[in-house]
Amino acid sequence: MLLIGDYLPSMTVQTTQGIKHLPEDYKGKWLILFSHPGDFTPVCTTEFVSFARNSETFKQLNTELLGLSVDQVQPHMKWIEWIKDCLGEEIPFPIIADPMGKVANELGMIQPAKPSATVRAVFFVDPDSKIRMILYYPAEVGRNMEEIIRSLVALQIATENKVAMPANWPNNELIGNQVIVPVANDIEEAKKNAEMYEHYDWWFAYKPLES
Ligand code: BEZ
Repeated sequence: MLLIGDYLPSMTVQTTQGIKHLPEDYKGKWLILFSHPGDFTPVCTTEFVSFARNSETFKQLNTELLGLSVDQVQPHMKWIEWIKDCLGEEIPFPIIADPMGKVANELGMIQPAKPSATVRAVFFVDPDSKIRMILYYPAEVGRNMEEIIRSLVALQIATENKVAMPANWPNNELIGNQVIVPVANDIEEAKKNAEMYEHYDWWFAYKPLES
């Protein structure tokens, strides 16, 4: 089972848009790799429409989307055709066909509570192919696209600025849209942080994103 900090393993996968090589084909970009329990199911359909409607936002965030379920490629093709014909939504991202569950098992997207299908997993993979965040939802709860985008933006900002993002960022109850300065590792640094930044204590300093 893959965990935060692991690298996405090398795999050649069949998708609705042809063969893809993981992680090479996504190097230099962020990747949202997400699994769904099954094609032609209602909650998954709502999620696919939502991912599709937000695909431009993901593109602007230098992020590719890649779906996966333990269905064959033909049901994937039929389902996205149905979504286009009946709901008017083009699915612009590829979907991995993994009927034997090989990819899903390696990634930990199949879990003991329901071994016949993938859970709703979301892997956030950075441009160096490192897994930076994982979300799991059960079959009965569809994902929140706003939270996925918020988490992605927060990860990108945290990485670029070497800061940490507070709860509910950018609307945190204590520090608003400000970000958290890394906790000092020695007394000298603690003193410096307390002088330079607003703080609740030496281990809780924060600053506006720009500075
Ligand atoms: C759904 O996406 O609606 C769904 C998925 C798995 C089982 C039941 C429903």
